[in-house]
Amino acid sequence: SRALKPVAVAAAQNGAKNFSTSSQMNYKVVVAGAAGGIGQPLALLLKQNPLVTRLALYDIAPVTPGVAVDLSHMDTPAKVTGYKGPEELPAAIKDADVVVIPAGVPRKPGMTRDDLFNTNASIVRDLACCVAQNAPKAIMAIITNPVNSMVPIASEIMKKAGVYDPARILGVTTLDVVRAAAFIGDINGVDPCCVTIPVIGGHSGVTIIPLLSQSQPAVKLSDQEKIKALTQRIQEAGTEVVKAKAGGGSATLSMAYAGARLAGSVLRGLKGESNVVECAYIKSDLTEAPYFANPVVLGPNGVAKNLGYGTLNAYEQELLKAAIPELLKNIKTGVDFANKC
Ligand code: NAI
Repeated sequence: SRALKPVAVAAAQNGAKNFSTSSQMNYKVVVAGAAGGIGQPLALLLKQNPLVTRLALYDIAPVTPGVAVDLSHMDTPAKVTGYKGPEELPAAIKDADVVVIPAGVPRKPGMTRDDLFNTNASIVRDLACCVAQNAPKAIMAIITNPVNSMVPIASEIMKKAGVYDPARILGVTTLDVVRAAAFIGDINGVDPCCVTIPVIGGHSGVTIIPLLSQSQPAVKLSDQEKIKALTQRIQEAGTEVVKAKAGGGSATLSMAYAGARLAGSVLRGLKGESNVVECAYIKSDLTEAPYFANPVVLGPNGVAKNLGYGTLNAYEQELLKAAIPELLKNIKTGVDFANKC
């Protein structure tokens, strides 16, 4: 039932720099966990994306239909609908092109992301089940922590349902990239928008590996101690926010910004734009860890190409060595949980 625009019209509207090969310019995006600290500003940003023509907001919180009504008064094209409670979940997910998942509890001071596992694992399991039944071709972008374990859970659920496509399940690590670019922008005294910095591994503590040696422009830090300190700041940036919010939750606004950027890139890939590159935590055979984050090309079917992580210097190799056992542990926790379901 989608109104399709012919390629020529789409190309003309987007100017010569558009390399779109797909005729589709309109997508349904679902936010699951839409009433939360991340969900609401994420929905606000997605409502402003011209590629989103249908925005479905799902949450168990009673305020959700109200959030949808609120956003529906914005004069942008996306039609916003709200869905509340598990009985309305299938209708929310039906025919989705992209399902962004920030549903679940966030950290409080003193907690690690792994402390969230027990609550969040079943939330992600149930959402993945519903995606398998109602939109098996949708791209799932998982924000819920611990991301390192949630992506394996969603993957196992899709396998069980017989609809698994590893190219369509992404763990959202964009905030790590955004933070690294922001900090480097400050250090170098340049606009952070112009900084390109791959962050690889996973999304918690030592598994977050910023490849500062590959930063463009080069990071203006002369000695190794300063490189170490910046690396640790990027790894612990989430905790910096948790502490500053003093019990009021974790990063929400910067995460919404990062999530909207990733979802926007997924949509640009779906519509056939070329050279859409983002870091994401995906099924991988690059290292011993069966899931791993690094730059990928996004295309019409999700992940089109794994770009790998290039050459690491000695310090980054050490970081990778420290990350692998933690990643393996996190992944096993997720897989074991899904297999018990
Ligand atoms: P929040 O508590 O403000 O919002 C979570 C929302 O999820 C609430 O509205 C809640 O009603 C909803 N929810 C709970 N169970 C649900 C279910 N079964 N189905 C649908 N919705 C459900 O939390 P916040 O701050 O928005 O964080 C959400 C998640 O994102 C947390 O797990 C947090 O750790 C994670 N996060 C991930 C980041 C990343 O870089 N990947 C960065 C920051 C947070």
